[in-house]
Amino acid sequence: MADTQQDLHHSRPKPVYRNIGLAQLIHYRLPWAGKVSILHRISGAALFLCLPFLLYLLDQSLASELSYKKFQAIVANPLAKLVLLGLIWSFLHHFFAGIRYLLLDREIGIDKVPANRSAIWVLIISLSLTLILGAKLFGLI
Ligand code: HEM
Repeated sequence: MADTQQDLHHSRPKPVYRNIGLAQLIHYRLPWAGKVSILHRISGAALFLCLPFLLYLLDQSLASELSYKKFQAIVANPLAKLVLLGLIWSFLHHFFAGIRYLLLDREIGIDKVPANRSAIWVLIISLSLTLILGAKLFGLI
């Protein structure tokens, strides 16, 4: 066959599809943007799956004085605090990564260097705010 895929694309090598497993993912040098992307999906799923829990807490906090006491008791539980800390991170990461994607969609900062830099900023900002809000949640500040 004369017309191979490579001939058609001026001998450019075909893109390689790497089906990497979870174990290999740890050793694979994924760029920051890739890490932010995976975490965006994980945080989006976590937020979605925990929506019933968050709505339940909101309801308990508002329904009556008695339910507010129950809300306080639930939120005082260290395990609940840990879940809430995870959700705080999820929201912050999802929010800032989400804004980054909306900017990228508008073709703002899409070059390699600024895209890499904004991915690192998403991680720095979301983790810093999680640290501050986490300290507040656990009564450290
Ligand atoms: C409780 C609130 C939210 C939930 C449950 C949620 C959930 C999700 C889920 C499940 C996805 C799909 C992820 C994937 O398939 O990789 C997604 C994508 C997205 N979310 Fe959210 N999200 C929430 C809030 C937000 C907020 C506040 C923003 C804006 C800052 C945002 C911006 C985005 C964007 C831009 C995408 C598309 C990303 C892409 O192009 O791949 N989300 N969200």
